[in-house]
Amino acid sequence: MRAIEITEPGGPRVLEWHEVPEPRVEPGDVLIDVAASAVNRADVLQRQGFYDPPPGTSPYPGLEVSGVVAEVGADVEQFKAGDRVCALLGGGGYAERVAVPWQQVMPVPDGLTLPEAAGLPEAACTVWSNVFMVGRLRRGETLLVHGGASGIGTFAVQLAKALGSYVIATVGSEAKAQRVRELGADEVVNYREEDFADKVKADVILDIMGAKYLAGNVRALRTGGRLVIIGLQGGRKAEIDLGAMLAKRVTVHATTLRSRPVDEKGVIVRSVVDNVWPLVGAGAVRPVVYAEVPMSEAAEAHRMLDSGEHVGKILLVR
Ligand SMILES: NC(=O)c1ccc[n+]([C@@H]2O[C@H](COP(=O)([O-])OP(=O)(O)OC[C@H]3O[C@@H](n4cnc5c(N)ncnc54)[C@H](OP(=O)(O)O)[C@@H]3O)[C@@H](O)[C@H]2O)c1
Repeated sequence: MRAIEITEPGGPRVLEWHEVPEPRVEPGDVLIDVAASAVNRADVLQRQGFYDPPPGTSPYPGLEVSGVVAEVGADVEQFKAGDRVCALLGGGGYAERVAVPWQQVMPVPDGLTLPEAAGLPEAACTVWSNVFMVGRLRRGETLLVHGGASGIGTFAVQLAKALGSYVIATVGSEAKAQRVRELGADEVVNYREEDFADKVKADVILDIMGAKYLAGNVRALRTGGRLVIIGLQGGRKAEIDLGAMLAKRVTVHATTLRSRPVDEKGVIVRSVVDNVWPLVGAGAVRPVVYAEVPMSEAAEAHRMLDSGEHVGKILLVR
């Protein structure tokens, strides 16, 4: 088969479409004939040499795919050849075929094309597990989403809105503010012009900036608030005023999905299928697709992501 190989750490040009060995189908695995994958910020870090795939996962980039089941390994009863599926991966999505534990495989939500479904697993599992399972966002509470125009952010805004929350998002331009309002955000803060911590209060914050926003996030939390950090785009080391935290009884969580064991991913995936897929099927949450790029030209898709002009997901289609 062919896959995108990272020939050396570096810029987008190090991504090359090569002939590579077929994946091995172990017991418990599902082999997927890939229709599409999608680009995530983590793929850029992997390309640059800062984020190795977890041990035992494919060396090729790609945290999510959609496609058709080609074959199932021993002991798999949940899926069969011919099923239309999408999957959360530890890696290996930028390829013609990928083998993945059945626990990480999901049916394609009703009404979606295969390419549309490729950009959902990573955002849906990240947002559902962090905002709802860890952050316990409830109907009527306020969610602050940093990077509301990102692949993760566009999903978080829609899902929290569909489940009855007041949603605030930060973005870096007026054009993106407009798009995020169209997706349902009640308030948008342009982080280049204003300090969100001076303007808003939230019960749950989904943060991708880490150190740079830690103090502001604690300031913006209401009493009993929950901060969930999933990205470190603004650095990893910061001081925190514990006094401000204990007075408001706030909690700070920091999590990553990719390195979780298969069984934990399976719990999240099943919960997403039960709680999120019906909302996607009903049209309350839609995939936000910025561009479709041929998979063999993944370098071009990475240039697009690096430019930061996208809103939502960049898909890699076969
Ligand atoms: N922990 C996990 O399990 C997990 C899983 C998936 C993703 N993530 C993280 O989630 C983040 C988003 O991922 P993605 O793939 O959706 O990336 P993406 O589409 O490339 O989005 C990056 C976002 O960062 C925003 N941003 C940059 N500087 C900002 C600032 N100072 N304040 C607020 N927002 C700022 C950008 O906003 P503008 O474009 O508006 O400037 C953009 O929307 C990444 O940090 C990624 O590593 C974590």
